[in-house]
Amino acid sequence: MQQITCSALIKHGSYINGSWQQHDNRFDVVNPSNQQLLAKIASADAADAEQAVLAADQAFAGWSAKPAAERSALLQAWYQLIMQHQDDLARLLTLEQGKPLSEAKGEIGYGAAYIQWFAEEAKRLYGDTIPAPSNDKRIIVQRQPVGVVAAITPWNFPNAMIARKAAAALAAGCTFVVKPAQQTPLSALALAELAHQAGIPPGVFNVVAGTDAKGIGEVLTRHAAVAKFSFTGSTAVGKQLLKQCADGVKRVSMELGGNAPFIVFDDADLDAAVQGLMAAKFRNAGQTCVCANRILVQRSVYQAFADKLAIAMTQLNVADGLTDGSQIGPLIDDKAVAKVTQLQQSALDGGAKLLLGGSRHSTGRQFFQPTLISDVNADMAISKEEIFGPVAALMAFDTEQQAIALANNTEYGLAAYFYSRDIGRVFRVAQALQFGMVGINEGIISNAAAPFGGVKQSGYGREGSKYGLDDYTDIKYLCLGGL
Ligand code: SIN
Repeated sequence: MQQITCSALIKHGSYINGSWQQHDNRFDVVNPSNQQLLAKIASADAADAEQAVLAADQAFAGWSAKPAAERSALLQAWYQLIMQHQDDLARLLTLEQGKPLSEAKGEIGYGAAYIQWFAEEAKRLYGDTIPAPSNDKRIIVQRQPVGVVAAITPWNFPNAMIARKAAAALAAGCTFVVKPAQQTPLSALALAELAHQAGIPPGVFNVVAGTDAKGIGEVLTRHAAVAKFSFTGSTAVGKQLLKQCADGVKRVSMELGGNAPFIVFDDADLDAAVQGLMAAKFRNAGQTCVCANRILVQRSVYQAFADKLAIAMTQLNVADGLTDGSQIGPLIDDKAVAKVTQLQQSALDGGAKLLLGGSRHSTGRQFFQPTLISDVNADMAISKEEIFGPVAALMAFDTEQQAIALANNTEYGLAAYFYSRDIGRVFRVAQALQFGMVGINEGIISNAAAPFGGVKQSGYGREGSKYGLDDYTDIKYLCLGGL
């Protein structure tokens, strides 16, 4: 932690109603690269979560009443502070999450871009007037903030997943309580410190860091003062949280698991496809919901593509995230390594071939070699489950129809990618893919201007873009009569 120049960013307890909480009960935050202890954080519990929700509820009246320009200015100030501290925030993120420093820096900029985006959108929360059925009436439509928003965010993007939810919520006039993943609370608490410095009033942005996921989750999904719940994480956990939200008929957005197909057609620019796949597969060591999971390659270019991919993959630099030039950091924990190992092994047992890698990397026990497997089929677990690791699994197909059928053969519908230079095929395939986001000749699709979200069991709701405020506002219709 001595690498962090601004010590004020290192916090050891939750941020509730503008104050830092202390507790005797503490939990460890550990560097996944070397398992060294980074910090001991006061562990918030369900009572703290309730206190945060009540603080957010109290702050709601004042925050939602502020002119949009004022909320916008405060978000801009927060954005500026984050960018000023980008280097420190990135180091903190790499230390607790493991991703290479260059990627961590990218994540800080990515998260901050949502705050900047929604600072601007706050001023454009337009309503509508609708022609009335008779002349003595006017129909006016206004958008109002839903109220207190509660969120649970994952460890794979400890900064950006909080920033893109909180930015939209605060811009709309909502107040916000987040429980960050217990593996990565430091980035969340540093964001809170900068929100505090930016002048965001007490109770508007709260961070509840603790290990009692069940207890805190119960409060965030069931408390009467919570109007809306937003979750990024696995589909299995999302389903449970949805059930809890159902009792209170809460507004909900869910950004859940993915199983992204990456299709390479025979008319594709293969070098561009390899480059796109390297980005879509190996970002964050393969630990993103939008990572290419099933790589479908048309048979006539299969071998050529596999050869080029193998060359690119051998050049990947696996190293501690703070080492210069690191491109693949550790996986988040031993469980993640075990899961990747088991998925790979069951594919090999089922007849797939190992072309590259295939085991832990010598850098450390949570590092996994970039691994290439060919001759995978749709029945293998590796084709059905999120790999969440640096393993690329290749499957051959013959026709466009077959590629589309294989790609859609999943309960998930978050992101899909395909490479083709045939304009007719581009439109046909883009329309046929049952996914919320489609990268066409592009491996990186995430940015603040675009609506991020999925269909099917990947969830609902959109984050970012002009659509991103919809999930944080209610539509109110005023019928003005007697005119
Ligand atoms: C995620 O993996 O959940 C988010 C990925 C992104 O924002 O690009």
